[in-house]
Amino acid sequence: MDAEIERLRRRERELEARVARLEAERGDGLRRPDRGERTSAASTDLLFTAAEKTRMPQIITDPNLPDNPIVFANRAFQNLCGYDAAELIGRNCRFLQGPGTDPADVAKVRDAIAARRDVVVEILNYHRDGTPFRNELYVSPVFDPDGGQLRYFFASQLDVTRFRTTEGVLAESEARYRALFDAVDSGFCVIEMRFDAQGRAIDYRFMEVNPAFAAQTGVRDAAGRWASELVPGLERSWFDTYGEVARTGQPVRFESGSIAMGRWYDVHALRIGEPEQHRVAILFNDITDRRRLESHLEATAQERADERDMVWRASRDLFVVCGFDGVFRKANAAWTETLGWDVAEVVGTRFDAFVHPDDYAQAAAAFERISAGFPLHDIDVRVRTKDGGYRWLSWNAIPRDDHYYAAGRDITERRALEEQLRQSQKLEAVGQLTGGVAHDFNNLLTVIKSSTDLLKRPNLAEERRLRYVGAISDTVDRAAKLTGQLLAFARRQALRPETFAADRAVAALADMVGTLTGARIQVELGLPDGERRDLHVNADPSQFDTALVNLVVNARDAMDGEGRLRIGLRRAGRIPAVRAHPPQRGDFIAIFISDTGAGIAPQNLERIFEPFFTTKTVGQGTGLGLSQVFGFAKQSGGEIIVESAVGEGTTFTLYLPRVAAVEASDPVAEPEALADGHGTCVLVVEDNLDVGAFAQQALRELGYSTVWATDASKALAELERIPFRFEVVFSDVVMPGMNGVELAAEIRRRRPDLPVVLTSGYSDVLAAEGTHGFDLLRKPYSVTDLSRVLRRAVQEARARGR
Ligand SMILES: Cc1cc2nc3c(=O)[nH]c(=O)nc-3n(C[C@H](O)[C@H](O)[C@H](O)COP(=O)(O)O)c2cc1C
Repeated sequence: MDAEIERLRRRERELEARVARLEAERGDGLRRPDRGERTSAASTDLLFTAAEKTRMPQIITDPNLPDNPIVFANRAFQNLCGYDAAELIGRNCRFLQGPGTDPADVAKVRDAIAARRDVVVEILNYHRDGTPFRNELYVSPVFDPDGGQLRYFFASQLDVTRFRTTEGVLAESEARYRALFDAVDSGFCVIEMRFDAQGRAIDYRFMEVNPAFAAQTGVRDAAGRWASELVPGLERSWFDTYGEVARTGQPVRFESGSIAMGRWYDVHALRIGEPEQHRVAILFNDITDRRRLESHLEATAQERADERDMVWRASRDLFVVCGFDGVFRKANAAWTETLGWDVAEVVGTRFDAFVHPDDYAQAAAAFERISAGFPLHDIDVRVRTKDGGYRWLSWNAIPRDDHYYAAGRDITERRALEEQLRQSQKLEAVGQLTGGVAHDFNNLLTVIKSSTDLLKRPNLAEERRLRYVGAISDTVDRAAKLTGQLLAFARRQALRPETFAADRAVAALADMVGTLTGARIQVELGLPDGERRDLHVNADPSQFDTALVNLVVNARDAMDGEGRLRIGLRRAGRIPAVRAHPPQRGDFIAIFISDTGAGIAPQNLERIFEPFFTTKTVGQGTGLGLSQVFGFAKQSGGEIIVESAVGEGTTFTLYLPRVAAVEASDPVAEPEALADGHGTCVLVVEDNLDVGAFAQQALRELGYSTVWATDASKALAELERIPFRFEVVFSDVVMPGMNGVELAAEIRRRRPDLPVVLTSGYSDVLAAEGTHGFDLLRKPYSVTDLSRVLRRAVQEARARGR
């Protein structure tokens, strides 16, 4: 039933809308509320009347009719949109929208209508002729005053299109700028200049000022007043500057102080309006505080500069500023005090002009580094003094842009002290060495002396005689070994280098290591796999073996007879940095021997290669084993490196230069020891009478015939006297006049077929140059050795002669 009534009511409203539309079509264009409405709601009647009278475009819609149609539209609205009342009444307003209308704006209105509340929205609508306009729409619901029932929606529209045009935008932006000038803290004013008859600016009047003007100037109510009146005594420069802007139209930006105002300003001034108006707009800021701070900072910076200058002048260190072209740009007075050079002589000169020739390479390398942007620390070079001497200076430098700052400290005295210390350490080492040698030799001599004394006793049993002679011989061997080790350490050995396969030598040694170390030490051999043609070294093989044995014995003792010993070798591309030597690139064989023994205390690591330095208890070792290894490694162009951790073990690595393998030549059959000389004639050259007599005696006993010359010239004379008498020459190396090597060379020149065997205990020449291909018999030698070497020389010469 209710639904039926509601349906009829709606129908009635539709009919009313139609009637209204027909009435509008008929002429007056306005639908008036019917009588019923007027009586029921006097206020809505008023609403219609007001809407009719106003010049604002306004419409009323009825939400109680389907689709909320327009029921009233005033004349102003019809004018705005171009539709007349008949076209408007009964339609929903959305027909004013078009393709450019933003759906979000439409949604805003829709939501407000659904919620029955006010809404203001700027929406794009279209006139009847299709042209768009921006409609600032205000919609509001109208309720019954009594029951609160929604009766109408009322809307007023405003065409705001013109505010969105260029003109509108300009006007708006002007308003905005004005608002901005009113809001900013900067002072702003427009002034009008006054010129005298000569065209000179004499005053200006403030046409406009912003609120900040007073705060920035301390001048109130300036608008309309003259500058001369407001700031008596205002400096001329202000009038001249603004007058110039007004005249030329050239804007200016400057900072200036005014004594009359007691302030500093940052000013931006430009001409505005027509030129003949002489108007200038000025934007300015009071910068008095900033200027005070700046002048304070300037004063502080000056103070610092003064301080630096004092340090620069007072310093005993040499200071320079040097360009990356190597030329000094500045130097301090310390150059004069320390080196005698005037500053003017230093500035403009290249750094290397002062460097000692021996230090030039180092200085050049350092210069390159700093030019590449790296700082330098403690570069020690000798720098020339004006009187031609040199002083050691230690340099630190820092690069900056295209130059660097360097400070050099005179360390000449320190270097001298260090040198003194080195000398005294050297002396201490020599003392230690001498003491060690004396001690060991005295022990050996004691044995020899006692044995010879005992031999002199009458009626000595043969067995005793043999024992004493044997003791002497053994002791001599030990003494010879001792001198051999000393020479090895001193790198004064006459080495007989050969090319041999290091891996085979190491393997052979590993085979016999067991007997040296005992059963409780486990020996592991580590050699590279595969074909090993490339593991050759050129070194004295017997010294090589001795070095390895020394290292093995050392390892054995470190393990106290029990542990694991690893011996092996590998190829290495570099020797790591050691004992102040930088890393060395190259092609090396690295032989390592590592043990699981007690390790070496760090304070001893530096010293273990010194002769007679030993941590073993007295009688356990001579302290020469590692010295021999060290000397051998160095003399062979290699290095020995030790790594150790206390309680964990030690690894020694012996580096030797790798060489290419050579074809082995056929060895000459080793002659028998103590073979009969068969009257072979030997020319013995020996300056020492005892040794000469002994050698002659021994050779005669072996069946050789001998002639003894006590120096080289006599030997050559003997050779000349009866040519082809001698089959071999046996010569000492160290002799007064021509030495043995020179003699041998001369003999080779005169008699290429005559073999020469050299003998020496030690010789500078041999250590430095080797034997020049002559056979060498090391002193002390045994009769057996002597016989063997002479026989071989003669055999080889005969073989060549055949
Ligand atoms: C009183 C009144 C006046 C309105 N005037 C306009 C107008 O001038 N322009 C317009 O685009 N929309 C106007 N609207 C909004 C539309 O009539 C309609 O409500 C809007 O498009 C959202 O509804 P819809 O999604 O059904 O179209 C008016 C609405 C009311 C209630």
